[in-house]
Amino acid sequence: MTKFRALFASAALALPLALAAPPADAQQTTLRVFVGGQQRPDVMRQILDLFQQRNPGMRVDVEVGGATSDQQQQYLNTVLTSRDSVIDVMLIDVIRPAQFAAAGWAEPLDSYLGAERDAVMGRYLPAYREANIVGGRVIALPYFADAQFLYYRTDLLQKYNLQPPRTWDELMSHARTVMQGENNPNLRGFSTAGAPIEGTVCTMLVPMWGAGGQFLNAQGRPNVNSPEIRRSFQLWSDMKAQNVTPPNLAEIPTDRIRVDFQAGNLLFAMQWGYAWNRFQNDADSQVKDKTRVAPLPAFAGNQPATCIGGWQVAVSAFSRNKAQAVQLVRFLSSPEVSKMQAILASHLPVFPEVYSDPDVLRANPWFEFARNSVVTARSRPVSPDYPEISEILRTNMNAFLAGTRTADQAIADMNSRLARVYR
Ligand code: GLC
Repeated sequence: MTKFRALFASAALALPLALAAPPADAQQTTLRVFVGGQQRPDVMRQILDLFQQRNPGMRVDVEVGGATSDQQQQYLNTVLTSRDSVIDVMLIDVIRPAQFAAAGWAEPLDSYLGAERDAVMGRYLPAYREANIVGGRVIALPYFADAQFLYYRTDLLQKYNLQPPRTWDELMSHARTVMQGENNPNLRGFSTAGAPIEGTVCTMLVPMWGAGGQFLNAQGRPNVNSPEIRRSFQLWSDMKAQNVTPPNLAEIPTDRIRVDFQAGNLLFAMQWGYAWNRFQNDADSQVKDKTRVAPLPAFAGNQPATCIGGWQVAVSAFSRNKAQAVQLVRFLSSPEVSKMQAILASHLPVFPEVYSDPDVLRANPWFEFARNSVVTARSRPVSPDYPEISEILRTNMNAFLAGTRTADQAIADMNSRLARVYR
């Protein structure tokens, strides 16, 4: 400690730190980005290193937290309700912009984008442009797109002379054939999210959409007592009854599906885009070059459906460095970074042209059809009350999968609780 600081340390502890110890480079701005453990913080770091090289006056630190979308949101709730300026930029799930807009947590970007606003927004895939404009204001910019796909083991299907399934019935029948033939107690036919987490909302909605159902009826009221939602419950209980799914399905969060598939313990999985890169590149992967990706199956006679996902970058309304944070967000939401993410993490692009980039296709041959899956994917309910809606759906699906609630009980509970949200 210098003599100068020692003097102040005893006499004036309350002095702001900046006065007592000026930073090495007084011109430098430090920004802090919050990212979830599942959104490849290591890849974010590489992207930020590039940003720092190009902007020597800026340093960007990464804060990693929360293994699931809802855990990340719990942390952000605490930071943002206390108006804490500790975070400048945050990654938020595609289901959150309406909530962030209503709460005033994200700095609207319109005035920063200025005359460029419409041109900037016009470059994104329409679903991401729309998700990030709430009440006419740009709340965040898209970072990467996402959807759920069917991952399957090519070696096992070939061994039993089976084609990738196009219907849920085919999937179950293939799963039974391979499980019987392999006689491996660790091998299961199929997995999806079943824990009381965000991903389990999609586990409920995807088969409902795939059976032709809608979450809201023509009057904009929730429609969760439909034959189509019952088909979704039936599908999961059939899978359970046939032992196709892992016995602890009700405990499985999103990344556990990846871990199980990567260990060679699953024939099929319903999973998001990021898993491909892990299967192909992780040192412990047992499924490298034995995995393919396809659109999810449908019920016979229906169109397949998938759930739209993805992550956005928002500037905190409480940041003390908003102009610099916007500069960072624009970089993170650029075609250049979209391409880097596609190659380094199989994060799906938010710009249509990046899907056909030859380098991107080399790393992810399945991006050829993935763009169409993203474009035709369905959205979870858009609402400032989404956290509550999600909680109602995921806890009921989870209780059903755990065997503590019947389909009738789960549907009745969803109906009465959703009626209070959609008053
Ligand atoms: C993926 C999706 C996200 C979704 C989450 C659920 O991260 O991109 O939108 O909410 O999975 O587990």
